[in-house]
Amino acid sequence: MTLLIRNARVLTLAHSATPSQAPLSRPRRGKELSELGIIPQGDVLIVDGKITAVGPKIEAPAGTEILEAQGRVLMPGFIDCHTHICWAGDRLTEWEQRLKGVPHTEIIRSGGGIQSTIRAVREATKKQLAAHLKTRLDALLRDGTTTVEIKSGYGLQTEEELKMLRAIVRAGNEWPGTIVPTALLGHAFEGDLDEYARMVVKEMLPTVSKEFPDIAVDAYCEQGAWSVEACVRFFEKASKHHPLRLHADQFTSLGMVPEAIRLGARSVDHLEASTKADLLLLAKSRTLGVILPCTGFHTDGRYARAGFFADAGGALALATNCNPGTSPTHSMPFAIALAVRFCGLSPAEAIVAATVNAAAVLGLSDRGTIEPGQRADLILLRHKDERQLAYELGGNPVDQVICGGALVR
Ligand code: NIG
Repeated sequence: MTLLIRNARVLTLAHSATPSQAPLSRPRRGKELSELGIIPQGDVLIVDGKITAVGPKIEAPAGTEILEAQGRVLMPGFIDCHTHICWAGDRLTEWEQRLKGVPHTEIIRSGGGIQSTIRAVREATKKQLAAHLKTRLDALLRDGTTTVEIKSGYGLQTEEELKMLRAIVRAGNEWPGTIVPTALLGHAFEGDLDEYARMVVKEMLPTVSKEFPDIAVDAYCEQGAWSVEACVRFFEKASKHHPLRLHADQFTSLGMVPEAIRLGARSVDHLEASTKADLLLLAKSRTLGVILPCTGFHTDGRYARAGFFADAGGALALATNCNPGTSPTHSMPFAIALAVRFCGLSPAEAIVAATVNAAAVLGLSDRGTIEPGQRADLILLRHKDERQLAYELGGNPVDQVICGGALVR
């Protein structure tokens, strides 16, 4: 199938270096973090799911379907590189309690918080989990997300984690976009942390590795979750076969950021409580920093100092952290709007962080830019100025979604 999108304001996100100097989708940092590579009035030709030409005027081969953009913004589809959207049940009652001032510790003591989602996930079948997920994936596509990372982590037992990962793959098979599963084997724990972490390293990790050999693994380093020692032991073992992701410094800076860099983690995510020294260290490393501003908005009003990190040369990505507890949104436009208001990013930086840099977090180099050879995952906004993405609050700025070259919305 051949599709020509005509007369668009094209955000190519192509970088200034020539392709022979660097791979197309390497993460942007420094001044490249705000380079949108704009063609003010351009065309994009798509053949068999791939972008084949981008430029001011492209001839349409015979039989080409034409999409007239009328000056609207055409950009890469959003890549949400950090979500927990595979869940069952809901947390509405505890949210209402929280609004009434019931302390978090009290909610946890009465079985709420993450434990309530763990119970609901264990009670759900793989088919039910996949069905919930499919509904969320469809909503996410409507808001312009064409690639999404989805973590396990609400199972906490080997079979339950496998059930989640299988449900994620199953839902992904029926969705036009791309899902990237992540094995969040260090999310919470049952009983004694040391014993539990030993079980994860000895039993859960090898079993998951066998069925999902290329999957990234993740852990949550925080007071009340996994300690630095437990994360390091787990990562030292896992890094032999898997890319590493890490949740760190959400509430407390425990010193895990330098360890994650030392172990070559792909990303460190959250960073709300990171010290300036750790942000500087991260900025100088190859590990990407992922900010999740919807979490601060929904919970406690704390945000990562992303502007400081970006100014220090850090490779920055942005994601929703969609989950039932701390971030009940799948909207990347909303994450962009918050990143600009509360984290010190410009609209252009937030767009780069939500597309090409998010692709790098997932190890994907075939998307996130509009260049020949790239997968044709594109969105056409209803706006003619991309800053509207960050300016507007709460609407859906996406008019049309193209996934693998097909118009899916
Ligand atoms: O990023 N940090 C760990 N996980 C999520 C919360 C998950 C939940 O509450 O269900 C977070 O905020």
